Amino acid sequence: MKKIISKKKIHSRKFENFDHSLSNQRDNHGFIKYKGKKLFNLASNDYLGLSTDKQVANESIKWLNKYGSSLSSSRLVTGNLDKIGEIERLLSNFTNHEKTIIVGNGFLLNSTLIPTLTGNSLGKRSKFYIFSDKLNHASINYGCLFSRQKCFRYEHLDLNHLEFLLKKVPINSPKIIISETLFSMDGDFVNINGIRMIAKKYNCILYLDEAHALGVYGKVGFGVATDNKKIENEIVIGTFSKAFGSYGSFVSCSKKIYKDIINNCSGLIYSTALPPSVLGSIYASVKKVPKKTDTRKRIKKNYNLVLEYLKKLSFNTGGSNSHIIPIIFESDNKLKKFSNLFFDKGFYVKEIRYPTVPKNKERIRLSITANMKKNILTNFLRTIKEF
Ligand SMILES: Cc1ncc(COP(=O)(O)O)c(C=O)c1O
Repeated sequence: MKKIISKKKIHSRKFENFDHSLSNQRDNHGFIKYKGKKLFNLASNDYLGLSTDKQVANESIKWLNKYGSSLSSSRLVTGNLDKIGEIERLLSNFTNHEKTIIVGNGFLLNSTLIPTLTGNSLGKRSKFYIFSDKLNHASINYGCLFSRQKCFRYEHLDLNHLEFLLKKVPINSPKIIISETLFSMDGDFVNINGIRMIAKKYNCILYLDEAHALGVYGKVGFGVATDNKKIENEIVIGTFSKAFGSYGSFVSCSKKIYKDIINNCSGLIYSTALPPSVLGSIYASVKKVPKKTDTRKRIKKNYNLVLEYLKKLSFNTGGSNSHIIPIIFESDNKLKKFSNLFFDKGFYVKEIRYPTVPKNKERIRLSITANMKKNILTNFLRTIKEF
């Protein structure tokens, strides 16, 4: 049985500099200014372009003027607003769950909610087994570690391996399965019906992280889990920092789990509520996302164009079937050459290295958004052909 982190593995990361995030100019057609050069940004999570939407920005200003620049304490002390409840009700409606709670950011939520749900929160301690996809986000791995429970990492998307591991623990023990629905570095989807069936069969809580699927997939843009019937013990988490063009996160769940969270989740209890300006933009985005059907059609057109072209040229795009498209390289040398060439040609692409992704799976992570113009994408693809 594998533990979550082997003692032998020590990750080291050497930054030559930390200036890659300094973009001081941006617009809503995907351009940023970096190192004095205007570049077409292929690395942003602003999938629907909402981070530069005027109505979203105006709602943010409205809330800032009305409620001030901070709520100045945890929501459980004096940092709550009726209006947060209104957003939570809207979210429950769209995710089709009884309850929703808005929390700081997605990292805070995953790293404190998993210990809460697995019986290790605020001094409590009970036995639980965790089953987590090997390529789940770092925040999920932290949540598993903080839970101090036995954690099995199953091979990426391999439901046979998941079931094999589930059979190793006592049948009546409490268990949780954790998976992203759309994987942030690979752009591939979990088999939602398959994982639900297994969770139900083995009586597990099913924890789904919809961070990258939200806004883009689902009938009203509220993720892949909302399209079909959920199972009884299912919970969904999402972030507002990607397609919603804002910041912060939420969890949607049953009334029973809600009670556990508000009483035990340290990330909610011991952290200051999101600032009103952020909540205002969340409010506007949550109302806008269901109406963004045409934008969702546009992003689909864009990513299909790129995916099909890359596949034709025999680039390794892994199992991507979405707007997140990795170009996986076996040699680091090639990776560097690729991003340098694209910088020269006016494109910003981001290299993703170990330990964020497995060794020898280093890659460029392309993030295709709805506002990218066809002629620029075609130009980008021509440059790829040159490479
Ligand atoms: C799958 C997944 N979950 C959670 C997070 C954390 O979200 P946030 O940026 O709101 O902290 C991320 C961030 O990239 C993510 O990719």
